[in-house]
Amino acid sequence: MAPKSREPFDAKIGGLSHDGRGITRIDGKVWFIEGALPGEKVIVRPIRGKRSYSLGIAETILDPSASRIEPRCTAFGVCGGCALQHLEYPEQLAFKKTSVTETLGAAGVKVPQDIVQLQTEPWSYRRRARLGARLVPKKGGVLVGFRERNKSFITPLSNCPVIHPSVDPVLAKIPQLIGQLSIPDRIPQIEVAAGENGTALVFRHLSPLTESDLSSLKQFAIQEGLLIYTQAKGPETAIPLDASATPELFYTLQAFDLRIWFSVTQFVQVNAAVNELLVELAVDWLAPNDKDRILDLFCGLGNFSLALARRAGQVLGVEGDESLVRKAAENASANGINNARFQTRDLFSDSVLDWDPGHYSQVLVDPPRSGAIDVLKNISSGLKPDRIAYVSCNPATLARDAAYLTGPGGYRLTRLAVADMFPHTAHIESATLFARSA
Ligand SMILES: C[S@@+](CC[C@H](N)C(=O)[O-])C[C@H]1O[C@@H](n2cnc3c(N)ncnc32)[C@H](O)[C@@H]1O
Repeated sequence: MAPKSREPFDAKIGGLSHDGRGITRIDGKVWFIEGALPGEKVIVRPIRGKRSYSLGIAETILDPSASRIEPRCTAFGVCGGCALQHLEYPEQLAFKKTSVTETLGAAGVKVPQDIVQLQTEPWSYRRRARLGARLVPKKGGVLVGFRERNKSFITPLSNCPVIHPSVDPVLAKIPQLIGQLSIPDRIPQIEVAAGENGTALVFRHLSPLTESDLSSLKQFAIQEGLLIYTQAKGPETAIPLDASATPELFYTLQAFDLRIWFSVTQFVQVNAAVNELLVELAVDWLAPNDKDRILDLFCGLGNFSLALARRAGQVLGVEGDESLVRKAAENASANGINNARFQTRDLFSDSVLDWDPGHYSQVLVDPPRSGAIDVLKNISSGLKPDRIAYVSCNPATLARDAAYLTGPGGYRLTRLAVADMFPHTAHIESATLFARSA
């Protein structure tokens, strides 16, 4: 039935959108329906209409999908952290695989038949998270949690089944801790960083903390066995409350005998176990030997570069964030690696062709969501490596870039993997391998 004004209406759901909403078409217009799954008949409450599409919420599920399950988290549906907890896990994996293959296919990229799926335990995986905090007296005090879906409100979370297990039991206690500080309305966010040797909470504060605040935070840290940092301004201003008793955090890449150190506000891949599989896969695909020179672009703190350096002759890692480049170099020396170098460059404005890094047999790229089209144009026309491994967190830009590489770029897509780095969310991580056509 076609919706009139903002009256609820019933609809049959066709597919799932890239962000995990059910899709239906009414009178030629696309509707994205939150909480609805493919095949379901639902009653939709309209939320917003745009020129080219409209948004609604599945208010009642009239005919549920066989794949629908009870979400584990009571905040599911409100909290913006997860989008797919109502879909059984194997179906989430299937949805992500289909999303990647369809997006590549729609861009005209020929997809290999065998697709690798990387997955591990789908709960308690988030070792990095940014929680929002807000004092809302009419809701009873300080709220701490992820933002609500499509809104800037905070979803108060007393537990979270996807966050690292060292943080989950503490979540419910953070509001009270902030509530007893002198500036409960000046703490907008708490970052979580969990390493193998400890978990840090980084309290961003917009006004100075008093001695008594610092002592409350210290007491909390001791009581909960956590490391607490305060952050007055940008990420580089994060300082531990007790520097002498605060170790730097690390994670390991066991297959490469690597211990990778990181600062609490630095980028690390969110899911430690899936990251390990992804690094192993990329190294396996590039299969370097001691004659090979490998270029790792968007290398961060050396996650892929250092693993590659264990097998390759030489590795050059390039990254835009100077503090990550410094950390990558420190990580190399801490792990006894002397065949990896690191450089700071803005890869979007500084063309690979201008700084001419020399010959590289293999290149790995792991760009941000915007992808790396110009970088890949320059690599394929200038450096012409035999193989390019591309790790992507956005199927849309991957498809655009892959279409270039497999078209004018002169490469074939030979391997594809979909890695479930963010279970229960609609985020899709994938890896592809391109081989230079003869
Ligand atoms: C998806 S992360 C990958 C990091 C690393 N490969 C890893 O596995 O930990 C993307 C990286 O791109 C870097 N980056 C973003 N914009 C950049 C730019 N314009 N030039 C160089 N690096 C950039 C970010 O700092 C970040 O480290």
